Amino acid sequence: MNQRLDHHTLEKYENIWFGIATVMALFLFVTVLASFFSGTYPSLTGEGGHHITGVKNGRLNPKNFAATPFATPGLRQNADGTYEAFVVARAFQFEPAVLKVPVGKPITIHVTSADVLHGYFIEGTNINTTAIPGQVSSFTTTFRRPGTLNVICNEYCGTGHHNMINGVKVEVQEP
Ligand code: CUA
Repeated sequence: MNQRLDHHTLEKYENIWFGIATVMALFLFVTVLASFFSGTYPSLTGEGGHHITGVKNGRLNPKNFAATPFATPGLRQNADGTYEAFVVARAFQFEPAVLKVPVGKPITIHVTSADVLHGYFIEGTNINTTAIPGQVSSFTTTFRRPGTLNVICNEYCGTGHHNMINGVKVEVQEP
């Protein structure tokens, strides 16, 4: 009698755990899908769901930034209050040399290269993308703490590669 009861109880627990595992798997799947469609998933070919003037399907002419926001690299706030930053990598520096961003705000960063392949790695974060001539790499991130972070080129790009270090300055905004 006891044994039958135990068996029954075990089966019940098994079902509960199976249910929890299913819910967790579903949750993960939906989260990944949602981040993919909302553009927070790093993308090398898209524009993070944003339209950029002069950029078509994430492609642009690296010899002519004039018609794109990359002509004036840096942070800007859109009419809807969202933040976008445009960064140009070229041998052997990033433009702007120091990207100033507000703390605690989602920022979509678009990176491209004016010449050869460069890396874009922000020290102390998991931000690590590639600056490709003719393409825009876009991702959205939120910097949680004020301070200065090093931006490092981690793709070999020539003689000045080892000195290709600039910064991101995360600032507290005045109210
Ligand atoms: Cu740019 Cu290495």
